[in-house]
Amino acid sequence: MSNPSIPVSTQSIFKDDILKGKVAFVTGGGSGICKGMAEALARHGAKVTIVSRTLSKLEVAAKEMRASTGGEFFAVAADVRDPKQLQAAVDKHIAHYGRLDILINGAAGNFLSLSQHLSFNAFRSVIEIDLIGTFNTTKCCFPHLKASKGTIINVSATLPYNGQVFQSHACAAKAGVDALSLVWANEWGPLGIRSNVIAPGPIANTVGMSKLAPEGTAPRIPIGRMGEVRDIEHATLYLASEAASFVTGQVLIVDGGNWLQPGLT
Ligand code: HXC
Repeated sequence: MSNPSIPVSTQSIFKDDILKGKVAFVTGGGSGICKGMAEALARHGAKVTIVSRTLSKLEVAAKEMRASTGGEFFAVAADVRDPKQLQAAVDKHIAHYGRLDILINGAAGNFLSLSQHLSFNAFRSVIEIDLIGTFNTTKCCFPHLKASKGTIINVSATLPYNGQVFQSHACAAKAGVDALSLVWANEWGPLGIRSNVIAPGPIANTVGMSKLAPEGTAPRIPIGRMGEVRDIEHATLYLASEAASFVTGQVLIVDGGNWLQPGLT
């Protein structure tokens, strides 16, 4: 929607107020793709809590996003692997905002390693952050999502579809996240809760790309360009808004067709 106070390059193709009155809880929302998702929610009227391990980093991110969006951000530290920390974070969120409408499970960890070189603890660490963290967060948020007939967006990846090499830990974790999301769509649809997945492809200028893209290779993308955080923001706004009120149990792949191509990334 056209807003003269916002530069044309950052204006949204969605109406400014589509999430007015909504409140979001975004794990991993202090950096990378999920920071973009948090920002997009705020730009369209939602109040947002961002959650990750380090409060000082979150405070900086919240300040930046208040300045860039004029929106409300609340920073809460928690490690998604620890149910007690998560419960405390959700309690703080509710004490601060009083409700929860949109949960984004975005906290993730990843690195490249062949399976035979992964330590037991390394495999478990990624499963604990991506998969168990998603369960922990969602379980703590459930009563509030039930009260608001809210919506869940899980951030996954296309890696499991073709058994991406060097990524056994993340493949296993993200396949689990996709499965959980379908179960929640089934179990909680009758309660008015929707549950969907966004599976981003190669997104330029992200930690994921710098950590995971093999040096000297370019992802094969039929659409002919790298993804931008903005592409994931658009998918988020669609799924979080009334536009997707009849959409649940879906995995929305936002990758320009990348996963259809053979080979690495
Ligand atoms: C092999 C490694 C490793 C590496 C860590 N480990 N990095 N093993 N290769 N590059 C091992 C450690 O040696 C240790 O095992 C175990 O993993 C846990 O590591 P810690 O550093 O102690 O754990 P922790 O501090 O909890 O860190 C978790 C982490 C880390 C996942 C390992 O990378 C992290 O916090 N990442 C968060 C940021 C991040 O990765 N963002 C990218 C997300 S991108 P031992 O046996 O020594 O104890 C993304 C996109 C996916 O998710 C989809 C892409 C398309």
